[in-house]
Amino acid sequence: MTAVADLKRLPSRPIDLPATLELSGIAHSFGGFKVLTDVNFAVPQGQIVGLIGPNGSGKSTCFNIVSGFLRPKAGRVLLSGRDMAADSIQARTRHGLMRTFQTPKVFERMSVLENVMVGLHKDGRSGILASMLRTPTTRREFDRLRNTAEEACRKFALGKFLDAQTGRLPAGQRRVVELARAYVGAPRLLLLDEPSSGLNTEEIGQLRSWIAMLNSEGMTILLVSHDMGLMTIADTVHALYFGEIIASGPMAAIQADPRVREAYLGG
Ligand SMILES: Nc1ncnc2c1ncn2[C@@H]1O[C@H](COP(=O)(O)OP(=O)(O)OP(=O)(O)O)[C@@H](O)[C@H]1O
Ligand SMILES: [Mg+2]
Repeated sequence: MTAVADLKRLPSRPIDLPATLELSGIAHSFGGFKVLTDVNFAVPQGQIVGLIGPNGSGKSTCFNIVSGFLRPKAGRVLLSGRDMAADSIQARTRHGLMRTFQTPKVFERMSVLENVMVGLHKDGRSGILASMLRTPTTRREFDRLRNTAEEACRKFALGKFLDAQTGRLPAGQRRVVELARAYVGAPRLLLLDEPSSGLNTEEIGQLRSWIAMLNSEGMTILLVSHDMGLMTIADTVHALYFGEIIASGPMAAIQADPRVREAYLGG
């Protein structure tokens, strides 16, 4: 009940102040295997920041630490200057942080529209009892959430799949459902882990324009991608290698950096 009361006290919208994320001295290991040794970088307010690195270099581990799925062995994660160490995944979401996953996580048996409505849970105003009683107020509220979700689906070209069972969609479309669900939650900081995997060239072009749109609507974005073309959308890119950031700058400079080339080519 406390959690529900907490949710209701939060402002339902809009995106007010884009967040700033800072990782300082982050270290993590699995068993004795050190994945991150000393990761330091920031995501300035309103920017798109990219994180690249060879397979297994720890990009998703960084995401898991920022979003609260993993506790780092050392270091701090600050959201708009606030240490998130004590915050649960849900508390981080309430503070405006949202992520998508390298393998899209959707409710496969639910429709596309229902999946996107899940992203609006913190916008709900009615209590659980009222929802169970299906009062006129809850019905009105349900309609409001449904309309907002439907609008978002159309924005992400999912209009013709509203009632489709999400698990039956191709992988690329499931990824878009996940993005639309994150979008309706109006995050201040959005973490996108390999959003282009499973998408074809045309879909990647579309994804690029959506990322630009989300950013222009005020979302600060941290993007992990192997797609160097997509990565040029980032204001700054950080390259992760052997647990540390080895180069930072615009994508063109990163691609030309000898340390980065060596890390990728193993040469
Ligand atoms: N839960 C876990 N338990 C043990 N080892 C793990 C776990 N999660 C990740 N690892 C290992 O940590 C290393 C970093 O993994 P991570 O998924 O963060 O890399 P990544 O940079 O996201 O790679 P990719 O580009 O393939 O997505 C890898 O060697 C991986 O096998
Ligand atoms: Mg990964």
